[in-house]
Amino acid sequence: MIKFDFNTYTDQWIEEGQYQALMNRKKEITDKFSQSDMIGWTERIEENLLWKIKETANYIKNNFDCLVVIGIGGSFLGSYAFDKMFQNYFGGNHFEVIYAGTTLSSKYLDELMNYLKEKNFCINVISKSGTTMETTITYKLLKDLLKRKYDESEYKRHIIVTTDKEKGSLREEVNEMGYASFVIPNNIGGRYSFMTPAHLLPLALNYDLDEIVSGYYHGKRLEDVAYQYAVTRYLLFQKGKVVENFCVYEENMEFFTEWLKQLFGETEGKEGVGIFPTSTVHTRDLHSLGQFVQEGNKILFETFLKVEEMDDYIEYEGRKLHDINNLVEDSVMRAHFSGNVPCLEIIMQELDLETVASLIYFFQLAAAYSGYLFGIEPFNQPGVEVYKKEVRESLGE
Ligand code: PA5
Repeated sequence: MIKFDFNTYTDQWIEEGQYQALMNRKKEITDKFSQSDMIGWTERIEENLLWKIKETANYIKNNFDCLVVIGIGGSFLGSYAFDKMFQNYFGGNHFEVIYAGTTLSSKYLDELMNYLKEKNFCINVISKSGTTMETTITYKLLKDLLKRKYDESEYKRHIIVTTDKEKGSLREEVNEMGYASFVIPNNIGGRYSFMTPAHLLPLALNYDLDEIVSGYYHGKRLEDVAYQYAVTRYLLFQKGKVVENFCVYEENMEFFTEWLKQLFGETEGKEGVGIFPTSTVHTRDLHSLGQFVQEGNKILFETFLKVEEMDDYIEYEGRKLHDINNLVEDSVMRAHFSGNVPCLEIIMQELDLETVASLIYFFQLAAAYSGYLFGIEPFNQPGVEVYKKEVRESLGE
């Protein structure tokens, strides 16, 4: 179960008339959303595709030591965030999944290749366009490593490609080489692609896909509240609160906030508008950015993601440690509110696969609605192309 509180610590910035005026635009906004040809992520994923993903995960687990996922942005953050959230901090029998493709650091890639030399590894290269520079470079390096280790008939078994159905160099390579492959549908953009093989295949190695899938579609029930969230943020933006700080109290949710930053940053940040998304992990960052939030420039509002209950807990001086963590959260919201920072709260009863998958759907909806409220196209990211073009020119391509 998920609860939402967008009122307690915001009401002095939200004028009832303005709120109602935007609530009255709900049909107009949701109609625009429904007419988009990029909302394939609202449709139910096919059972036979889920079956193929699970089969492929079993093939990987039965034949290899580890999987290297190569992707960036929307082709990486969803599964990475989930994986970070649900694997043990220490130990555990997690099937090893290594994420690469997000850096051109020669030190990182050199160490990775040295590490993989002795491993029987499989690659899942994920790129909708098939042209992303970081992904292409990492893929080429690791494929060359495979080629040095195995002959052609063998190394082909180590490569699984997730890309567009028809377009791009990765698809051409699949057609030529006969690699195993999955499709990122045309009508689903990178950061909205959680419910596709791009994320479900890496996750199927360690998690129950059925729970994730059912949780995700339960998120559909949150349509009204997603619109309320979009409206509240929009009104705060109009009051000069142009930065949204996502606050989490579990270390393992840090990359969920990275996923949120990408979702909102690429969806809204266009044509000179949009809320700049940032994040803090508490209580760690209360001892760094906390000072700015409390007393600095009043450009921020915050969205707290609270986990109400934890199964495993420690007792500290007669109290559950998790209760102390929650008590700190409540206190921080009051403190920041007293420093003129509006605070919204999203409360998960438990941090489990279903709940987080529902939240993914919720946030995707809210981001898309928000794009339409801002009057921009939510599903493109033309700004990202600008740096890619500069790089291509610098490389003389
Ligand atoms: O949300 C998006 O569309 C982007 O973040 C892309 O996912 C990212 O740029 C990677 O693109 P591709 O999957 O084409 O390699």
